[in-house]
Amino acid sequence: MKVLICGKGGSGKSTITAMLAKSMAKRGYNVLVVDSDESNFGLHRQLGVGLPEDFMNYLGGKRNLGEKLMGAYQRGDTLSLFENKWQISDIPEAYTVKKENIKVMAIGKIHDFGEGCACPMGALARNLLTNIETTSEDLILVDTEAGIEHFGRGVEEGCDIVLMVLDPSYESIRLSEKIRELTEKAGKPFYFILNRADEIGIQLMMEALGKTNILASIPSSPEVFQAGFAGEELNVELPEIESISDFLVSGSHS
Ligand SMILES: Nc1ncnc2c1ncn2[C@@H]1O[C@H](COP(=O)(O)OP(=O)(O)O)[C@@H](O)[C@H]1O
Ligand SMILES: [Mg+2]
Repeated sequence: MKVLICGKGGSGKSTITAMLAKSMAKRGYNVLVVDSDESNFGLHRQLGVGLPEDFMNYLGGKRNLGEKLMGAYQRGDTLSLFENKWQISDIPEAYTVKKENIKVMAIGKIHDFGEGCACPMGALARNLLTNIETTSEDLILVDTEAGIEHFGRGVEEGCDIVLMVLDPSYESIRLSEKIRELTEKAGKPFYFILNRADEIGIQLMMEALGKTNILASIPSSPEVFQAGFAGEELNVELPEIESISDFLVSGSHS
């Protein structure tokens, strides 16, 4: 199963990705976390591993990929980067870091000022996710950059389900309308996860979302906050995360 996690900046995407990865790994799943946010360097810390080398380098680096993308665009083709279908185990070890049964990879990061746009990374993420096949014991979690650009790049195409994380804010509600529309167009099952909302926040958000597709509401947790603030590994188990895992395991979304 391939799960895309999206939402606005700071809503809690990476935090929830990390907690979900740990929860599902404990249940015996082979978990691959794909860090597809080119401008954030926090997810690997939350998972307690080092920063993996940019997978983009495997395909010759950003410039090379950008040229291939441009060439395909000029020919009117869609970029196709892989010849054969991959399993998680086919990802070259040099581009993953592993801890117990969680593997982490990063599509590519923006390392330098003025190095250009992130389009090649989006194209690579889309190619990788449409190409990779999962078994019933595998779970791929894709942590995306803030907003909806990844939809423009078609990253959701290879995923089986989209989870949107919302904090209690006007921006999250507006973004949810857009994301609902885009996932419906893409024909993907899609669910909301409310994060850090108190009782009033939950009520307001439920109403704004029309009370549909809400999978879980994760409370503000002092332990999560402290680990996040210190840049430490997240070793917090929350019952709400377990209920999301139950849902994924049950397969009732498909
Ligand atoms: N449920 C929560 N309780 C407490 N702090 C949280 C919670 N969810 C996220 N945070 C904190 O909020 C900040 C932003 O979360 P993060 O996962 O990095 O957001 P995103 O990936 O969406 O940009 C982090 O410092 C994180 O520790
Ligand atoms: Mg993040």
